Amino acid sequence: MASQVFWIGLGNMGRGMSKNLAEKGSLDKPLLAYNRTKQRTDDLVAKVGSDKVVALDSVEEGVKRSQIIFTSLSNDKAVEGLYETILKSGDVKGKLFIETSTIHPDTTERIAKSLTGAGAEFVACPVFGVPAVAEAGQLIFVPAGPKSSIDKLRPFIKGVMGRAEIPFEDRPYGAALKLKLIGNTFVLNMVTQLAEALTMAEKTEVGTAPVQQFVDLFVGGPFSVYGERMVKGVYHKMDAPLFSADNAIKDASHALDLGKEVGIDLKNPAVAKDYLQDVAKHAGGDVGDIAGIYGAVRMRAGLKYENDA
Ligand SMILES: NC(=O)c1ccc[n+]([C@@H]2O[C@H](COP(=O)([O-])OP(=O)(O)OC[C@H]3O[C@@H](n4cnc5c(N)ncnc54)[C@H](OP(=O)(O)O)[C@@H]3O)[C@@H](O)[C@H]2O)c1
Repeated sequence: MASQVFWIGLGNMGRGMSKNLAEKGSLDKPLLAYNRTKQRTDDLVAKVGSDKVVALDSVEEGVKRSQIIFTSLSNDKAVEGLYETILKSGDVKGKLFIETSTIHPDTTERIAKSLTGAGAEFVACPVFGVPAVAEAGQLIFVPAGPKSSIDKLRPFIKGVMGRAEIPFEDRPYGAALKLKLIGNTFVLNMVTQLAEALTMAEKTEVGTAPVQQFVDLFVGGPFSVYGERMVKGVYHKMDAPLFSADNAIKDASHALDLGKEVGIDLKNPAVAKDYLQDVAKHAGGDVGDIAGIYGAVRMRAGLKYENDA
């Protein structure tokens, strides 16, 4: 029987991933899509075409009609709430659920237990990459769960939504989330490093341009991207965040929790979290971007949150 695929959650990440799935996933039938704010589902249909995506008004309908269901929501509470709705919606037996959000490993394990207990298949699959990378279909996927279930996801990774995978086949679901949190400590640290260096440059005679030049020449990659988001003032001019302060605080908190669980008092995520709380206070947790750490560092140095770019 031809499989029906359903996508739930069209935020920064879900938008790009679902677009690529609909366009390049060689799906048997148009992708079904649902988002809490309906406008985003309509936008996806307008962008990709009604022959490739069908907008739905309810999670329940999508789950009922589908065999493979992807989810991408902001935080643990939202993801747990969604899976409660899914489990209440009826029979999930034999369906495959692929959960791509960044949540606590214990949350993932709980959800996996409920679903597999009800006869469903589950793959925990956080992803690495910024929204532009999701849009370009170049994400790094970290799938965990039974190999047979991961094999069903694989046709949708390379050449569709991702460029690579770091698999945890037949390993605990939580392992994928642990790697995701460890990975995000790099991002938190990188953004904090850039913010402090650029503020230091501003307070001395160096200036920010030579630091950005150094970053481009010496490290490049995401350092350059985030540096530019700061120097060009994008962090305070953007209409909506690309990586919200709330989501970044969640990631830092989960990483700190995980460290505590295994007896490590992590310092780097604690510093980033401290700055992010200033970003949330100043710009709003769902409006401020992770790159706003630059504004937070600036304020503590006696400068305005916004730079003059
Ligand atoms: N942004 C990044 O750079 C990045 C990179 C890798 C992984 N991630 C992770 O991937 C996940 C998605 O990230 P994102 O940046 O796409 O987040 P986002 O832009 O904040 O989008 C969040 C999505 O969750 C939905 N949502 C939030 N609360 C909800 C609730 N209570 N009930 C139902 N739906 C709810 C939102 O619906 P509405 O549209 O109705 O608000 C939206 O579809 C997060 O776990 C994040 O940590 C993010």
